[in-house]
Amino acid sequence: MMISKTKQLELVSLAQKARVNAYCPYSDFAVGAALLAESGKIYTGVNCENASLGATICAERAALTSAISAGERRFVAIAVAAGKQPVSPCGICRQVLAEFGNIIVLCAAAQGEDYKIMDLSALLPDAFVEYNRMD
Ligand code: THU
Repeated sequence: MMISKTKQLELVSLAQKARVNAYCPYSDFAVGAALLAESGKIYTGVNCENASLGATICAERAALTSAISAGERRFVAIAVAAGKQPVSPCGICRQVLAEFGNIIVLCAAAQGEDYKIMDLSALLPDAFVEYNRMD
């Protein structure tokens, strides 16, 4: 499902606004995400780091688990915002998002209205998902 330019900019702006609440004392790299569900509701998330670095949760997964916790299961698009140049989701987040289908991904910097638009199937081709399993 494609979304309007206005909705794209809204998602980017919400990801940038959410970003200020990132908990990132170890990397000092604050990330925000805004996830649009098919219901029309938007769920935000930030990265939440941990002294045990591998326990860190990225902004995209924080937004997704918030939406899932609210009962959402179908999604349209996610915006992610961080850094001086647009960032794109890490490998783990690509896999976690792929669980819920091929959504639009908007990659933005921490500030400004520039962003790259792509979709999850480009970021994670041939994703492993349960409905492809042969057993
Ligand atoms: N991070 C995200 O939250 N999302 C991404 O797509 C890339 C990485 C976080 C994890 C860690 O807290 C920090 O950015 C530096 O890697």
